[in-house]
Amino acid sequence: MPTKRRLEPRDALRLLAPGPVTLLSTMYRDQPNAMAASWVLPLGFEPTLIGVAIHPSRLSHEFAGKTEQFALNIPTADLMTAVHTCGTVSGNDGDKFAAAGLTPAEATEIEAPWIADCVAHIECGVLDRRSWGDHDLFVARVLVVHALDEAFDGFWNVETDAGQLLHHLGADRYAGLGRAYRVNPEDERE
Ligand SMILES: Cc1cc2nc3c(=O)[nH]c(=O)nc-3n(C[C@H](O)[C@H](O)[C@H](O)COP(=O)(O)O)c2cc1C
Repeated sequence: MPTKRRLEPRDALRLLAPGPVTLLSTMYRDQPNAMAASWVLPLGFEPTLIGVAIHPSRLSHEFAGKTEQFALNIPTADLMTAVHTCGTVSGNDGDKFAAAGLTPAEATEIEAPWIADCVAHIECGVLDRRSWGDHDLFVARVLVVHALDEAFDGFWNVETDAGQLLHHLGADRYAGLGRAYRVNPEDERE
């Protein structure tokens, strides 16, 4: 697995800023699981908080609820088929890592594994869970963050292969961000 640099917890918010699909990994009683999650929302800088909406039917809902931990792993576009498998097959029906061809790796502060194939990993501890509708909002504190330098240097390098995030359009449609833009201060109006 390529070395990933440890970052500040608040870098998690920049990692999530473009709204990429994530793979939420959990572990309960030695059973690892991974589900695709795109309903992910930054909630605060200090402490650094993230919300994830998870339907109660998901095995990941049970695992994250019981262990109060999960990791958000950020895949790049080359993992699209594996991501889709994680988003259409339940861990109730077998080992999802095997089904999707993904590799678990030890996390640093939680039992839930990293998904080594991803370029960034956000380890989280669950603080609260609220039901507003058919999904439950898990509010989690970011514990520790790692990312691959060539993919993320404080901002995603969306014009490089390493930084090709995957965005879900719905159903079996995905897209990538191909271009970055930057505001020129001279063009800004008072
Ligand atoms: C791209 C994508 C994103 C998804 N995002 C979410 C999400 O944010 N929340 C959710 O509850 N389900 C989401 N799903 C559906 C779950 O990933 C899916 O039901 C999965 O099979 C649950 O796996 P599990 O039962 O092993 O936890 C998504 C599916 C796809 C394909």
